[in-house]
Amino acid sequence: MFVNNTHYRTIWPNPSGSSVSIIDQTKLPFCFEIVQIDSVEKMIYAISFMQVRGAPLIGAAAAYGIALAMLNRVDDDYLLLVAKQLIASRPTAVNLAWAVNRMVAHLSALSPAERLHAAWQEAAKIADEDVQQNQTIGQHGLKLIQQAHQKNTFHILTHCNAGWLATVDFGTALSPIYAAHDAGLAIHVWVDETRPRNQGASLTAWELGQHGVPHTVISDNAGGHLMQQGQVDMVIVGADRVAANGDVCNKIGTYLKALAAHDNRIPFYAAVPSPTIDANLAHGGDIEIEERHQNEVAYIQGHAADGSLQTIRVMPAESKAANPAFDVTPARLVTGIITEKGVFAPSNLAQG
Ligand code: MRU
Repeated sequence: MFVNNTHYRTIWPNPSGSSVSIIDQTKLPFCFEIVQIDSVEKMIYAISFMQVRGAPLIGAAAAYGIALAMLNRVDDDYLLLVAKQLIASRPTAVNLAWAVNRMVAHLSALSPAERLHAAWQEAAKIADEDVQQNQTIGQHGLKLIQQAHQKNTFHILTHCNAGWLATVDFGTALSPIYAAHDAGLAIHVWVDETRPRNQGASLTAWELGQHGVPHTVISDNAGGHLMQQGQVDMVIVGADRVAANGDVCNKIGTYLKALAAHDNRIPFYAAVPSPTIDANLAHGGDIEIEERHQNEVAYIQGHAADGSLQTIRVMPAESKAANPAFDVTPARLVTGIITEKGVFAPSNLAQG
C-alpha cells in the first residue's frame, strides 16, 4: 500500500542478502520509521515487542527470521533451536508456527549447503503468497459489500488492526474495505480504538487515512450503542487463529462486538488467509491466549501538545492489571469467514 505516495510492503529483504527491513509499528502513527533487522535475535525481539504484529505479518517475519539465522549456522540442531525460539515469541497467532514449521520442513529436506539460499527464497514465497491471498480476500469481501450496499453510505465496524500493516500487504479485514473504496462505493469505517495497545486508533486510522478512506475512531465501548442506533451495517475483523469448527480467535474485545452484532442482526465476518485456519484444532477453547505485560493496561502512550511522545499512568500505582490479549468468538456468532478461496459459513470451513 502507499505511504505518502510511495508503495511499501511491511517487510522486505535488503539487496545485501544479510538483513530485512520492517516498518516499526510501535512508532506509528507519529513517526514512520524503517528498521533494519540483521539477526534472528533482533527478529525475535521485533515480534515479541510488536515492532511487527498481526498474524500474517508475524508469520512472514518469522520466516525471514529463519533465513537470517541461516547466515550464522545451517545445521539441524541450530535450525530446530531457532525455530523453537521464534514459535515461542508470540503464542496465539497460528501463522507464526505455521510459517516456521513450513521453513523447517523445507530446509530439513535439503543439504546444509543448500539451506541459506533456499531459506531466503522460501521466506519470499511465504510473503508473496500472503500478498496474493489478501488481495483475493478483498475481492470476495467486495462482493459481500456490493450485495449489502444501499444508496447511502455503508458503515463497517472493525476491531484492532487487520489492515496492510498486519500482513505483508493489503490486509485481511481492511482488504475488502480498500477494494470497496477503490471501486467507488460510499463507505465509512468505525474504528475501535482497541485498548490496551490502541492498534485501531494508532494503526487502522493511520492506514485508512493514508488511503483516503473515510473513518471515525470510537472508544471500545461505543460499538454496541452504534449498532443499536442503526449506524453499523457490517462488522469485519481479522483473526489470529480460526479453529476447525469456525470459532474465531482475535484481538481482545472482538467477542463483545460479535455479541452486539448478533443481538442487532448485523452480519459479522472474519477475513482470514488460509494459514490462519488451524485445521488441527477442533474448537477455539484450546487456543493459548497470550497474556501480555500489565503495564500495557496501566500506561498509555501518546503525543503531547509540544510534539513529544509521552507515556502516562492511567490507574492507581497500587492497583494490579490483567492483560489477556485475545478472545474467542464462538462460531455461532460468525456470519461468514472470508478466505482467499471464497466466503464460508463457519460450519462449512472444512470444505474450503
Ligand atoms: O496483538 P496484535 O496486534 O498482533 O493482534 C492483531 C490482531 O488481533 C489482528 O486482528 C489479527 O492478527 C488479524 S491480522 C490480519
